[in-house]
Amino acid sequence: MTPMFEAQSLPSSASKRDLYASLAQQLAALLEGEPDAIANAANMSALIYQLVPDLNWAGFYFMRGPELVLGPFQGKVACVRIAVGRGVCGTAAERKTSIVVPDVDAFPGHIACDGASRSELVVPLVRNGRVLGVLDLDSPHPNRFDDEDREGCERLVQIYLEASELNG
Ligand code: SME
Repeated sequence: MTPMFEAQSLPSSASKRDLYASLAQQLAALLEGEPDAIANAANMSALIYQLVPDLNWAGFYFMRGPELVLGPFQGKVACVRIAVGRGVCGTAAERKTSIVVPDVDAFPGHIACDGASRSELVVPLVRNGRVLGVLDLDSPHPNRFDDEDREGCERLVQIYLEASELNG
């Protein structure tokens, strides 16, 4: 039987650098030896939601044909399908680059799933130049995410992609 994994939280005084270093280490241990892309996305969403402060949503959308379809997440129920090029998620998928949105109300076309969301970070899952999905984090605080969060989450996405069998 798989041994229990217990997420280790950090003190609220921990720097973002230390937080993401710990998250990367814990995620690698959590996904080690498990190739299932859905199971890994579910556990990664739970780990992020549990340990990253000030989030109201953390989860995945996967490319299914021409659009993104909701995957495992933590938070309130969310919109299921997002066309590439629509909203923050679809724009990140289209551009194949991460997007930090300090104020969702100022992002043209932002799709409001949880009205409490004020800022957002979306990191695309890119393998061999193909977008396989996105990781989406929402916060109820404006300007919650910066370059350290983006880089930290891009590292987490790499760990996820290395562990998981995922085809677009
Ligand atoms: N806000 C996203 C939609 C997904 S929810 O936030 C979970 C967007 O604009 O793409």
